[in-house]
Amino acid sequence: MSASDSIPLRRYRDPLAGLPVALGVSGSIAAYKALSLASALTQAGALVDTLLTPAATRLVQPLAFQALTHRKVTHALWDSASEMAMDHVAVAHRICAFVIAPATADLLARLALGLADDAVTTTALATVAPLLVAPAMEPQMWAHPATQAHVAVLEARGATFIGPRPGRMASGLEGLGRMAEPVEVIDALRLRLGRSGPLAGRHVVVGSGPTREPIDPVRFLSNASSGHMGLALCRALLHAGARVSLVTGPVALPPPMGAEVVAVETAQQMCGAILDLAPAADALLMAAAVADYRPLTVSGHKIKKSEGDSILPLTRTPDILASLDRHLAGRPGPRPYRVGFAAETGDLEAYARDKLQRKGLDLVVANRVPESFGMGRHQAILVGAHDAEPIAAESKDAMAQAIVERVIVALNDRQSPPAP
Ligand SMILES: Cc1cc2nc3c(=O)[nH]c(=O)nc-3n(C[C@H](O)[C@H](O)[C@H](O)COP(=O)(O)O)c2cc1C
Repeated sequence: MSASDSIPLRRYRDPLAGLPVALGVSGSIAAYKALSLASALTQAGALVDTLLTPAATRLVQPLAFQALTHRKVTHALWDSASEMAMDHVAVAHRICAFVIAPATADLLARLALGLADDAVTTTALATVAPLLVAPAMEPQMWAHPATQAHVAVLEARGATFIGPRPGRMASGLEGLGRMAEPVEVIDALRLRLGRSGPLAGRHVVVGSGPTREPIDPVRFLSNASSGHMGLALCRALLHAGARVSLVTGPVALPPPMGAEVVAVETAQQMCGAILDLAPAADALLMAAAVADYRPLTVSGHKIKKSEGDSILPLTRTPDILASLDRHLAGRPGPRPYRVGFAAETGDLEAYARDKLQRKGLDLVVANRVPESFGMGRHQAILVGAHDAEPIAAESKDAMAQAIVERVIVALNDRQSPPAP
């Protein structure tokens, strides 16, 4: 048994866990996707009250939602067995968010007008919870000036629109009108609820992924960083309400919804982007795997192979965190809270403390490798100026939440940001 086995394992806490959410479903052929959405919301831990329009019940069965969400479903305002017959605004008053997916053209019109002729529109009118809408309709219906006018009215009132997306419609036509996929709707919901989180009004820069140092037009030096940790940090920051700039080297993974992406290739480019953004930000989390060396010269043509061995002269790339520290020296105003990452096989705390001091950091996340490679259990020590906190986490998302908690505490100790 290692010492770290005694550290309680941190689990990922979904921001939707325990939150009462209403899912409104209207009479679009995309209503079948609402079943996956209801299931995914429930699996994320949300308490889902489903409300269907009468047209929606012609396409999907209320019972299916009841079985997926384990909660009563309302589909008729005048049904004496429904909760709404006793208190027609009960759902409206208890929810943290109202997601309408799919939303028909007809429903958008009724919402824009403020009608309250069924369970969905009545709840939308009676709630103060944020409204998220995923429209689904034929492209001509979406493009129609009437629909666009209703969308503009709802957006002006604060509704968040997710999609529609382009693709093949049920009619066989291609165009803009498909309902966004459930996973995208859920991401948008987490992001929307995060807006009032503890990092609201804060700007955080995240460095992520590998860098690529060119040798010639078709070859480069790089490393195996997937960018998973940087993206997990972005998600945790966005869900806590921060504005996030993601400075990323080339990775296969898509950026999280809501992050402002600055795509770079070389260490030099990453350094430029970080020095540009970080000084005015509230925090910098530098989880990128930046190349330490680059080829001294870059050939303008593809280098031909020749007999015998070859030597590639290398030169140092800029040390981004040390460059930032020098850049900030003597500047007025508060410095961004700076977090660096290190991967070590032993003596984690000693190496991390040395890095903290050399680069003027506020926190170093020292990962124990090879244990923390891959997607399984992660072990790290969060080394600050006056403490060292060992963390065992079930996943990178859980580790990212632990790191972001430290950022929240540190920034709370500083002056609040101006109102956005
Ligand atoms: C099979 C079928 C599929 C439909 N799909 C859509 C759709 O995807 N989007 C849309 O705006 N209307 C669609 N409609 C039309 C709506 O069901 C109709 O406008 C209805 O009045 C909407 O009522 P609701 O908004 O109260 O659910 C469809 C109708 C049928 C019969």
